[in-house]
Amino acid sequence: DIVYLDGHYIPAGEARISPFDRGFLFGDSVYEVIPYFRGTGFRLREHIARLEHSLRAVRIRSGRDWYAILDRLVELNGGGNLSVYLQVTRGDSGSRSHAYDASLEPTVFACCAPVRDFASVAAKDVKGLAAIVTADLRWHRCDIKSTCLLPNILVLQQARDHQADEALLLRDGLVTEGTSCNIFLVRQGVVYTPKRSSEILGGITRELVLELADENGIQYQEADIDYDALMAGDEVWITSSTRGVLPVTRIDGQPVGDGEKGPLWARMFELLTRYQRR
Ligand code: PDD
Repeated sequence: DIVYLDGHYIPAGEARISPFDRGFLFGDSVYEVIPYFRGTGFRLREHIARLEHSLRAVRIRSGRDWYAILDRLVELNGGGNLSVYLQVTRGDSGSRSHAYDASLEPTVFACCAPVRDFASVAAKDVKGLAAIVTADLRWHRCDIKSTCLLPNILVLQQARDHQADEALLLRDGLVTEGTSCNIFLVRQGVVYTPKRSSEILGGITRELVLELADENGIQYQEADIDYDALMAGDEVWITSSTRGVLPVTRIDGQPVGDGEKGPLWARMFELLTRYQRR
């Protein structure tokens, strides 16, 4: 495995960062997870735009050729289907101080992991997921893809302790998203998803699903979803770059709709698969 660290492509085992790096000490950093299929970045432009949004929002300097860095890394790792993790920290302060010097040189790290090509899986082989619903303990800038993921990790583990795959988050009585995914609800043939706001990440897959719904005459609405609406849904889906669109068939121990993967999910799965192949 070859990783990228501050301008160098090196074997993963040789990568070293300082313990005084602010990403390590404070989680003072942002990230992206970008899928590459058959060696090509999927919705790469959108991921880079979101990275630039995160960097600007936390005032970490940018100005790198992200495309060149990532494409080269994927090439060095043999191309194919990979998810690329890219992290940019504010840099190494040399000591632990909350305040930072604006001239710090950001630390840039990227590595690859195999990703399942969702276009290679048949809808019938996709398993319905179980989820729990729990309090959203995060801050109010979830539109920034920050590496401060402690709340996400804790509630995902809570889900795992209940033999569930994902935790869906509730803030002020409304569903926001999952620990690392956006959420969709289907009721009477209409697809609903929470509006974009600073309480959720503007998912690249979420945007694509809405685009595909639009192009294919599937009715959708960006709207508030409360706990009762969630539990009364005919279908619930989650979306992310590494998981595509997956059906949730049990929530808090109750079946979603009839407890089976829904027809609109199967349709969207097919549309996403076709989009990915083209
Ligand atoms: N997570 N919401 C949150 C909180 C996320 O962390 C993610 C992605 C999403 C989905 O966004 P996208 O469709 O752009 O992947 C929504 C990545 C995959 C991760 O943390 O691994």
